[in-house]
Amino acid sequence: MAFSKRAVLVQKLLAADVRRNLLRAGITIGADVTFRGRPIVDRHPGSSITVADGVTVISDPRWTALGVARPTIIRTLTAHARVEIGRDSGLSGVTICSATSVSIGMRVLCGADVFIADTDFHPVDEIPRSGMPLPASNPSHSVTIEDDVFLGARTIVLKGVNIGHGSVIGAGSVVVTDIPPMSIAAGNPARVIRTVKTQ
Ligand SMILES: CC(C)(COP(=O)(O)OP(=O)(O)OC[C@H]1O[C@@H](n2cnc3c(N)ncnc32)[C@H](O)[C@@H]1OP(=O)(O)O)[C@@H](O)C(=O)NCCC(=O)NCCS
Repeated sequence: MAFSKRAVLVQKLLAADVRRNLLRAGITIGADVTFRGRPIVDRHPGSSITVADGVTVISDPRWTALGVARPTIIRTLTAHARVEIGRDSGLSGVTICSATSVSIGMRVLCGADVFIADTDFHPVDEIPRSGMPLPASNPSHSVTIEDDVFLGARTIVLKGVNIGHGSVIGAGSVVVTDIPPMSIAAGNPARVIRTVKTQ
């Protein structure tokens, strides 16, 4: 993708402004974090959001081949929540919502419009659901995506899931159970289809 000098300069100014605003909002941002477009980041008081060195956050469809349907959105929903994005990972139009913990390892590639949540947002076994408070933090609902995972575009990762290091999740998959390391999994629900071939 080629950009004019002016577009690059505008993007640099915007990225500096994003960084300033996030630091002011109590988000921990490492060195050399690249922002393309303006993400939406909301930190619930008392919770933590950490973006490690070298992470790329894309929120503007012009800056990635596949485009993104929305800005990257990172939200903590309770005082106990924790979101960690590991070193050199990439987020393209990703939505992450945490009531407990969403931990993304190093060098994780999140394809366009991935959705990760560690809560159902609404009660499942109580009626009426409307107007009920958010379900409380629950450690068994934590989501962990280990180092070097590749999440295909529009993957959905739901509560309580651990995706082992080096694994790949096929585009459009819905991950509801743990995926072992170095596996390729796909579908709804995502199932292992083979292992990653290494030399
Ligand atoms: C998962 C993926 C890596 C597998 O690639 P592959 O190893 O070449 O697999 P194949 O195309 O040979 O497919 C193997 C089987 O998995 C199924 N499959 C592959 N991708 C699938 C997907 N996303 N959802 C459901 N099933 C899928 C195939 O239908 C095939 O099933 P079969 O054995 O019953 O015929 C690839 O299909 C994929 O989804 N890549 C993600 C691309 C992407 O989103 N990039 C992000 C850009 S931002």
